[in-house]
Amino acid sequence: MTNIVILTGAGISAESGLGTFRDAQGLWAQHRIEDVATPEGFARDPALVHDFYNTRRAEAAKARPNAAHQALARLENLYSGEVLIITQNVDGLHEAAGSRNVLHMHGQLDGALCHACDHRWPAPPMMRPEDACPACGGQATRPDVVWFGEIPYHMDRIDPALNTADIFAAIGTSGNVFPAAAYGQHARRMGAHTVEFNTQISAASRDFAEHHRGPASFTVAQWVDELLCV
Ligand code: APR
Repeated sequence: MTNIVILTGAGISAESGLGTFRDAQGLWAQHRIEDVATPEGFARDPALVHDFYNTRRAEAAKARPNAAHQALARLENLYSGEVLIITQNVDGLHEAAGSRNVLHMHGQLDGALCHACDHRWPAPPMMRPEDACPACGGQATRPDVVWFGEIPYHMDRIDPALNTADIFAAIGTSGNVFPAAAYGQHARRMGAHTVEFNTQISAASRDFAEHHRGPASFTVAQWVDELLCV
């Protein structure tokens, strides 16, 4: 039985209308990372950070899965081996497409976290600095997303999965942010066949044995059909 591990990035959600980070019009061309995606930025101006994530939460709520998300859900449902998605994305489009074996290593927009007591609950559409934590009552609520300088989630499950993957695929990620940027190299060293799906060369392309250039909604659907011998 072969294990497939798939890393996804913002590029898989681009055709669902959600912004990527490092493309010319990307989120990091419109906002400074240090202002909206670091603990220091949140401490400095929590209202600005909540606004940034409130906007992204509203956009994600309107977005629908595209053919790439749907193909991965089909693969999980019909493939004879195990399929694990490790996503850097904080949208819920993999789950909306029907994928269940998904690890959100950078957290999720629809989660809220109290940084006083670590309580987690479903995030309301709009979060504000004065919101009180439902558990401890403290005004210390934040989006349950991982910021730069923080440790990604699910590292205890990710490394073993990379060690035993037969196929490792990276879809729509620029290979700029570690540790995810090194997953292709790690999986390849451990014997996986590595496949990259991107519209252009990424910073990690050299780590991959097979490349599919083009929009993920087309290339990933074609790849899944081949894997399922459709
Ligand atoms: N199909 C396939 N790939 C695409 C598509 C598409 N339709 N559109 C864009 N891409 C590719 C781009 O070429 C780029 O390589 O998706 C990649 C998106 O890269 P980034 O914007 O850097 O996003 P990502 O790699 O997910 O960023 C990783 O950085 O800022 C942090 O936490 C943030 O999770 C994010 C992490």
